[in-house]
Amino acid sequence: MAVRSAPGKVILLGEHTVVYGRPAIAASIRPRLELTVAVGEAPGIESGDPRVRTALETAAAIYGIDPRRIGIGVESEIPIGCGLGSSAAFSVALLRSLGELAGRPLEELELLRRATEVENAFHGTSSGIDVAVASLGGVIWFERPSGGLPRASRLPVHDAFDLVVALSDERRSTAGPVGRLRERVRTHPGLYHQFFDLAANLVHAGRGALGTGDFETLGCLMDAAHGLLNSMGVSTPTLERMTTIARRAGALGAKLTGAGGGGAIVALAPETAHDVAEALRAEGFEAFVTRVGEPAEEADATEDSEIRVEEIEHAGDERAVG
Ligand code: PMV
Repeated sequence: MAVRSAPGKVILLGEHTVVYGRPAIAASIRPRLELTVAVGEAPGIESGDPRVRTALETAAAIYGIDPRRIGIGVESEIPIGCGLGSSAAFSVALLRSLGELAGRPLEELELLRRATEVENAFHGTSSGIDVAVASLGGVIWFERPSGGLPRASRLPVHDAFDLVVALSDERRSTAGPVGRLRERVRTHPGLYHQFFDLAANLVHAGRGALGTGDFETLGCLMDAAHGLLNSMGVSTPTLERMTTIARRAGALGAKLTGAGGGGAIVALAPETAHDVAEALRAEGFEAFVTRVGEPAEEADATEDSEIRVEEIEHAGDERAVG
């Protein structure tokens, strides 16, 4: 039996535009998913969800295991259907567990590539940003140039800080908003690629602000990113209301996180996290505080992953995945 866990995530800057080759910054959050996996003789697959079955079959094929022999138990603190990375955490924890049981753990970069394949069972084709965060933990720079290999690396953060994550009651799929935006891009490519370039500038500036601990600037960048996402048609009236509540309660910036169309918001609140969370709860939204940028942050509580993370940090700026 193998027990592995992986964290959820928020995208701080760059969702959607990351699908079009622009960079993005994301961070792991406190809620985690833990998987207990066993490979035996008894039939293992119990989920009625065809996406879970496809994910298991994809993962099992990587190790040459009969998927019917895999038994899994899931314990998750990560809200489902909110863009907080539960399916990526599942995919990463599943591959790590199977790798341990098969005695063939995947090397980090191969894990990212394979976990993206497994996660595609849930969302259709994804950029891979969610599995990069679930796998590496911490604050992640992610980029997948058009036609090229994805690159992911941990970003140095000057000071740890608090974020507030709040859930709208609108559940949505990733594929819905991604598909609707694709249709807009098809009809007005010039306009949307201008938005995308602007969004990429915000991400580059965000990297600088994180590196110097300039939270005022980071908050402005998050507000601007949210405005762009609204212009791209992926916000909702509820998400607009939530970001307004967060800003009025003292957040330095607030934006939708993930695909939008519902789901969650993230608010930057280094000094005011308690007030911001309370203000959102008072309006009926579930909210929690999560700390980002702690030096000891790990994706998976094993010595192994710590070594891998160090290797990636020391290897320089970015590493090709795949
Ligand atoms: O699954 P979500 O809601 O976290 O969305 C992932 C981020 C997108 O950029 C919208 C899609 C992708 O594949 O990168």
